[in-house]
Amino acid sequence: MDPTEGSMVRILAAMTRVFSGIQPTGQKHLGNYIGAIRHWPAYQDLGEAIYCVVDLHSISVPYDASTLRENTLDTAATLMAAGLDPGRCTIFAQSSVPEHSEGAWLLGALATFGELSRMTQFKEKSEGQASVSVDLFTYPVLQAADILLYDTDKVPVGDDQRQHLELARDIAQRFNSRYGELLKLPEAAIPGTGGRVMDLQEPTRKMSTTGGTPQGTLLLTDPADVVTRKIRSAVTDSGREVRRRGEGKEGIANLIEILAIATDRTAEDVEASYDGAGYGQFKADVAEAVEAMIGPVRQRYLELRADEGHLLQVLSMGAERAQSLASRTVAEMKRRMGFV
Ligand code: TYM
Repeated sequence: MDPTEGSMVRILAAMTRVFSGIQPTGQKHLGNYIGAIRHWPAYQDLGEAIYCVVDLHSISVPYDASTLRENTLDTAATLMAAGLDPGRCTIFAQSSVPEHSEGAWLLGALATFGELSRMTQFKEKSEGQASVSVDLFTYPVLQAADILLYDTDKVPVGDDQRQHLELARDIAQRFNSRYGELLKLPEAAIPGTGGRVMDLQEPTRKMSTTGGTPQGTLLLTDPADVVTRKIRSAVTDSGREVRRRGEGKEGIANLIEILAIATDRTAEDVEASYDGAGYGQFKADVAEAVEAMIGPVRQRYLELRADEGHLLQVLSMGAERAQSLASRTVAEMKRRMGFV
């Protein structure tokens, strides 16, 4: 083998920068895992992977200050339990790198009131609320700063983040055309299967700890018997065909996708293998496969969560690395924008 070949591969790999974020709100659920977190470890070996616990984002809705710190550590432990290795990637808390807030303010000059008003997440989260924070409205600008400060190539996220990613690209493009080429246009990496895991009780809504039903939200920390109970009681139609398409099939379609992911098969394969079978066996198999997938994550989570000193050390190391990258981008943005 040409001795330069290995180093060439390393150089090319080092050029792929991956960034993603997750809010430290409540416990993480199966949707977070299947749509996003599960995909993150693979990027550790493809280039530089940076993962952020977005605590600043989480204060955009009413929250409990006395649990934010705990929730942040819970989330960091969950990411490590899912396979992120602090020796091979960067894990940090957003609030530890003030460049995120500063970058958001700078980029806010380029985002418009009109486009932020069109954000689906804002509309959903603000609907029916007596009081809506300014942070909830400007949330996508902070998210754009998160991504753009790191010369990010790829952003692995669930389907619900598509619109925010498009906005981040638009903002970057606008910055570049006004102040000269600087910000890289990031690409979303959204899984084709499992990009939107639905609530088990209300399968027309996405699974979510804030907007879903408690029984329909499978937490990564749920013990095995709860996993089984929640899946067995998942709402389905009154038919008996294990198929994704058709009237009222949302519940079954959701379980088919979940089983496909958990057993590393395609949704078509799953459908074919349950041809003629009823829902009872199917649901039992889904429960077993999900437990086999998340049981080990839960176990590692409990071990990692017990060592708070280590988690704090990981976050502090991560913040140092993240800041060394973000500060360069912010300094150059300010220079281009004319600050002294
Ligand atoms: P968050 O914290 O709501 O969710 C974290 C990740 O989980 C995905 N996800 C889902 N995927 C499939 N099915 C579901 N039911 C489901 N629910 C959540 C989300 O798409 C996400 O990838 N705004 C982001 C956090 C963020 C961010 C960023 C992401 C802030 N800055 C920069 C990427 C890059 C959010 O609220 O994710």
